Amino acid sequence: MSTAAPPIDPNRPSPARVYDAFLGGTHNFAVDRAIATRTSELLPETALLARANRAFLGRAVRYAAGRGITQFLDLGSGIPTEGNVHEVARAEVPDATVVYVDVDPTAVLYARHLLGDDPLTAVVHSDLREPATVLGDARVRELIDFSRPVAVMMVAVLHFVPDGPALDAAVRAYRDAVVPGSVLAFSHTTFAGDTAVLERITHLYTRTGGPLVPRDAERMARFLDGWRLVEPGLVAAPLWRPDPADEPITGEARNLMLACVAER
Ligand SMILES: C[S@@+](CC[C@H](N)C(=O)[O-])C[C@H]1O[C@@H](n2cnc3c(N)ncnc32)[C@H](O)[C@@H]1O
Repeated sequence: MSTAAPPIDPNRPSPARVYDAFLGGTHNFAVDRAIATRTSELLPETALLARANRAFLGRAVRYAAGRGITQFLDLGSGIPTEGNVHEVARAEVPDATVVYVDVDPTAVLYARHLLGDDPLTAVVHSDLREPATVLGDARVRELIDFSRPVAVMMVAVLHFVPDGPALDAAVRAYRDAVVPGSVLAFSHTTFAGDTAVLERITHLYTRTGGPLVPRDAERMARFLDGWRLVEPGLVAAPLWRPDPADEPITGEARNLMLACVAER
């Protein structure tokens, strides 16, 4: 994929734009809002869960920065909104470098627009299943020194990647690319609550380019392959080191997204 702004198809919903709609963003079309509305009818807590996921992202970035990490590779970074990785990281580490990677043209376009000519950030239009392309990208090599620890973020993205060797090989490639002291953070949709509701939501997402693939904790643990889980482990996203300022989320919906940070 090139550095040119890729084309956007307003007639086909995308997971990035549906998520933007849940977060109250404006970079989405009627087709995206239709999916967000229908999902919310099925599961009224979805928007709250999206915000809880976003809050986890912020806490994970702060954790990494607190460990002295200054370099972030944000895979499946999404359409920029409040609390983007570079903003959260820079509140802790002013010279943090961040590379955003997303397969969605809308996410790439708006991230590039937001970041302008910021020399410490870059946006790469790529599929995370192509780690050689991502890790070999000139902007990644320029901003991330792989001889020093890196925070690899895969927040609310792996559940858009179907099972298969490409998925596990890609996650392994990112793990293998980084040195001890690095962290890997992810959140991921799981099975909880009414399975019929989850099935209907996953069916809805087949209309987007990215099918939604919930996985159980055991399957997710394979993404870590022996990396040490930071306390409290792989838990419901809102329960990973919650901040008193976070919006409360209770009930079964809270358990639909698991999250963790692991260290090498
Ligand atoms: C729900 S959003 C999450 C955004 C952000 N990480 C967050 O948690 O707030 C998921 C993002 O992953 C992107 N995505 C899905 N599959 C991808 C892939 N194979 N490679 C790169 N990005 C992908 C989507 O385009 C979307 O922007």
